[in-house]
Amino acid sequence: MPLIAPSILAADFSRLAEQIAAAVRGGADWIHLDVMDGHFVPNLTFGPPVIRSLRPVTTLPFDTHLMIQNPDQYIEEYRRAGADLITVHVEATPHLHRTIQRIHQSGARAGVSLNPATPIASVRDILGEVDLVLVMSVNPGFGGQSFIPAAVGRIRDLAAMIRDTGRHIELEVDGGIDPVTAPAVVAAGATVLVAGQAVFGSPDVREAIARLRGAAGPGANV
Ligand code: DX5
Ligand code: ZN
Repeated sequence: MPLIAPSILAADFSRLAEQIAAAVRGGADWIHLDVMDGHFVPNLTFGPPVIRSLRPVTTLPFDTHLMIQNPDQYIEEYRRAGADLITVHVEATPHLHRTIQRIHQSGARAGVSLNPATPIASVRDILGEVDLVLVMSVNPGFGGQSFIPAAVGRIRDLAAMIRDTGRHIELEVDGGIDPVTAPAVVAAGATVLVAGQAVFGSPDVREAIARLRGAAGPGANV
């Protein structure tokens, strides 16, 4: 069964605490937090103060997706704000190994993410150090975009690469995930599904999570 990580990017920002609580009650496994800096991606969202103020709402892991240039200098701050997992983009940091070390030193679990056109081989040599690989199935920056089908083959190849390491590494997919696209990515080896629009775009968050789970779970029609 894949884990479900609703992305609050699609939530009503005037009611973030309520919306996170609804996702928790609806059976979410992680809460996905999209941090954007207006440089690495052409959009701005929120930073540590917002994360800190949301931390008391739930004990579920905060899955923090940093879409920011040169993340190194902010890692400690995100950890202190309450991030449990910190994922950085391979395209955003010149010294990925050092960045991952810093994440571990902060006490968080470490993830690395790839944009749709970044060769998957670019993370091969860091697989021994990370807890999670995040495959972007849209170009990062905005919610509600269409799923890029080439992500399925990339997930399949990454899953094989991960198996070869013999380590437990979560394989997360982010962008355009809904009950229609979920079965193929899960069949390809995704273990964590991020969903923004498919969860918070629905009037009933619990039902939306259940639908996603039903589509992605055992016996689903792939
Ligand atoms: C995109 C973000 C995603 C986004 C996904 O840059 O990283 O997490 O919220 O949104 P949906 O599920 O609506 O595509
Ligand atoms: Zn994300």
